[in-house]
Amino acid sequence: MSLFSSLFKFGSQNIAIDLGTANTLVYVEGQGVVLNEPSVVAIETINGVKKVKAVGDDAKMMMGKTPDSIEAIRPLRDGVIADIEVAEQMIKYFITKVNGKKSMFNPPEITICVPSGATSVERRAIRDAASNAGASQVYLIVEPMAAAIGAGMPVTEPIGSMVVDIGGGTTEVAVLSLRGLAYTTSVRTGGDKMDEALVSYVRRHHNLLIGETTAERIKKDFGVARPPADGVGQTIQIKGRDLVNGVPKEISINQAQIAEAMAEPISTIVEGVRIALENTAPELAADIVDQGIVLTGGGAMVEGLDAHMRDETGLPVTVAEDPLSCVAIGTGRAMEEPVYRTILQTA
Ligand SMILES: Nc1ncnc2c1ncn2[C@@H]1O[C@H](COP(=O)(O)OP(=O)(O)OP(=O)(O)O)[C@@H](O)[C@H]1O
Ligand SMILES: [Mg+2]
Repeated sequence: MSLFSSLFKFGSQNIAIDLGTANTLVYVEGQGVVLNEPSVVAIETINGVKKVKAVGDDAKMMMGKTPDSIEAIRPLRDGVIADIEVAEQMIKYFITKVNGKKSMFNPPEITICVPSGATSVERRAIRDAASNAGASQVYLIVEPMAAAIGAGMPVTEPIGSMVVDIGGGTTEVAVLSLRGLAYTTSVRTGGDKMDEALVSYVRRHHNLLIGETTAERIKKDFGVARPPADGVGQTIQIKGRDLVNGVPKEISINQAQIAEAMAEPISTIVEGVRIALENTAPELAADIVDQGIVLTGGGAMVEGLDAHMRDETGLPVTVAEDPLSCVAIGTGRAMEEPVYRTILQTA
């Protein structure tokens, strides 16, 4: 890039956004992923007037611990925008955070990913949120395509490959070939459902109420997709509130029980993969037998999930490098590299 064009570029670095249910990642042209924060906004209401109090990391710390006047909101549920105004505020905040004030005078082009199963109304909501947040032009890319590009899969070649992106809200299963989606299905089950399953297991079996944040921590640190080899695994202590007498209490739980608690959402995910395999054209299916299935998204990091899926499908299954960043990296590369141009959608 010449000095002139790099100076010119200085004002309007284009950005790519992975607007996730759990985390939002921002990729800046020429720089890569520069921001990765929870998709959470804390709203304070004073005398009936709502004001953004905190966004991202700062807001997540407040979740479950806010006084009555502050509400920590996750504007996305099941991978789509549930609260449009709050989502817009969040996107605006993140854009300003990476681009500073210059985005106001020289608005960037924004490439943003959408779940493959998003309805036209949901796509419109995401597009509007990005343009209201200050984009000069908005491009959309379907999430599993972005995940596959980010995972380094051969999406432009005439080779079938399967990606399974297990996010917070949704799991997207897709078969890709020649820049297109040959088959896609989206299951509204992901990491959040695993957290909820843990909350309800502990409530049912121990009369103990735990928060979503606690459940998520247990899942990340001790969650397993299948019972440990010794039938028990590690035993941990969990603190929460006793449902019978309302006081704080502590119980212990082992990894076999955690696996049991998480079994249902995990089998829903495996079922989605099975349905996709059944619906894949024979030539592409043959490629998948060779190439295997690649897992992306935070949910791919549940211990033993790859091995479990290997057992259930009989196919090679691998976890992508840096599964939490694949979608953002893929969205960014699709924005930057001309070979992916035709994949981007303007409507
Ligand atoms: N080490 C880990 N083990 C298990 N789960 C994890 C781990 N790290 C993150 N997760 C889970 O991954 C999920 C977030 O993944 P990701 O950031 O890919 O989702 P997202 O893109 O925000 O959601 P979606 O794609 O559904 O909109 C959360 O449910 C989180 O708890
Ligand atoms: Mg995602």
